[in-house]
Amino acid sequence: MRRILCFAVLLFGAAMAGSALAEGDLESKFSNQGSVGNTRHNLSQRQHSGGGPNGQNMDPYRNDYEEVCVYCHTPHGANSTTPEIPLWNRTVRVTTYQTYGQLGSSTLTQPIGQPGANSIACLTCHDGQTAVDSIINMPGSGRYNRSQETTQSNAFLNTWNNARGPDATSHMSLSATGCLSCHVNNGNPDDPGITAGAADFTAFVIGTDLRNDHPVGIRFPTTNGAGTDWKSPTGTRGSITYFDSNTNGSFDKGDIRLYDTGEGAEVECASCHDPHGVPSGAPGSPFNRTFLRVANTGSAVCLSCHTK
Ligand code: HEC
Ligand code: HEC
Ligand code: HEC
Ligand code: HEC
Ligand code: HEC
Repeated sequence: MRRILCFAVLLFGAAMAGSALAEGDLESKFSNQGSVGNTRHNLSQRQHSGGGPNGQNMDPYRNDYEEVCVYCHTPHGANSTTPEIPLWNRTVRVTTYQTYGQLGSSTLTQPIGQPGANSIACLTCHDGQTAVDSIINMPGSGRYNRSQETTQSNAFLNTWNNARGPDATSHMSLSATGCLSCHVNNGNPDDPGITAGAADFTAFVIGTDLRNDHPVGIRFPTTNGAGTDWKSPTGTRGSITYFDSNTNGSFDKGDIRLYDTGEGAEVECASCHDPHGVPSGAPGSPFNRTFLRVANTGSAVCLSCHTK
């Protein structure tokens, strides 16, 4: 797989082949700059600033709402089952996840529960159970279905017409039988991860088994700072506690954070990732890879919390 190939280059060839990594890593037609509209989180696909992939490849498999935010947010009638996620427009299927705690790790000291809101939000696509276009409130008036809150209804989704291409005849999710029916490794060593021009998405399908992922829904130790294995958060904003990870002295999207939804400050997916992209340098510069809040160069993501 491409990911493993990248690591091999990193481990064995970094000193000699300095530039090989960049080529393999950000293999995308999106510019990954300026706006979420120019990233893979633009499910309509055609890039906001022009260019980008040809979204027509996806037209038979998802509704093209021609808007970026609507796949995740709605200004009105948001999902009432998940008030902690801002104006959430997506179907949130009720799910019990297998947590990292069930791995039986002997070194884990902190209480762990089901993923919190700022992980569930991501998992509404990345657990592969729900179509990427499964939203409650489709653009245009009267295209609203309250029963979509927890259950995907293809009959409702089929009422949408793609103006820029053929209508979707199936509504696919990030799963083996869905988007990965094209977006898989084709086994060709000269062209890893590409089937008919479709990049390999296998690594991005998290599923409902979270035992092999960094724990989420896990509490941050309240004893931290000098003499412990943990950094001390630098500040609090509402229910968020944050670290000044990009060391610029202010709270911003480049700061790793913890979310308190009533059980104390916890690690969730959005602790480390910002789904809208975070510039790697000055405003307008390319986003950090994989939507990370801070580039993981020198394990900077990990060292925001861990003292190791
Ligand atoms: C029938 C095969 C097929 C299916 C099914 C399919 N895709 Fe694709 N996809 C492609 C091809 C081919 C490309 C590359 C051509 C292009 O860029 O338009 C592509 C490109 C993409 C890109 C742009 C990649 C980049 O960064 O340049 C994204 C994102 C994407 N697809 C997402 C999806 C999602 C999400 C689904 C499921 C809802 C899906 N695709 C289903 C064939 C497919
Ligand atoms: C792929 C899903 C996705 C898309 C697309 C998306 N968002 Fe978000 N958004 C989220 C998630 C998840 C959160 C909660 C986590 C967080 O705070 O980053 C969020 C939080 C927010 C917040 C509150 C926190 C903050 O960062 O200020 C705002 C405002 C927001 N989104 C606006 C937008 C707008 C405007 C667009 C379209 C241009 C957009 N989002 C597109 C997923 C998305
Ligand atoms: C609306 C569905 C949706 C939601 C919600 C969503 N994603 Fe994604 N995400 C996708 C799709 C589709 C892709 C593109 C296919 C791929 O690259 O896996 C993607 C790609 C990614 C990638 C790989 C990006 C790259 O360029 O390599 C990361 C990392 C990611 N998402 C993390 C998150 C996190 C973290 C959240 C929550 C804060 C989230 N996503 C919410 C659909 C979603
Ligand atoms: C403690 C920080 C942290 C948390 C929490 C976290 N991630 Fe990540 N994630 C990372 C880092 C760092 C990478 C980059 C790995 C790399 O480049 O090899 C990554 C990579 C990814 C990727 C790209 C695929 C890959 O394997 O590189 C996806 C998709 C993703 N994360 C989604 C999620 C989702 C969904 C959650 C919540 C269930 C989550 N992440 C929680 C730090 C985190
Ligand atoms: C937002 C804070 C935060 C970030 C960022 C973070 N971690 Fe953690 N990590 C935690 C917490 C909290 C625990 C649970 C510790 C415990 O139970 O004792 C943990 C646990 C771990 C464990 C121990 C798991 C076990 O079974 O005992 C490892 C290993 C780990 N993290 C590695 C990483 C790596 C690698 C990164 C960077 C990709 C990272 N962490 C980023 C907060 C974080």
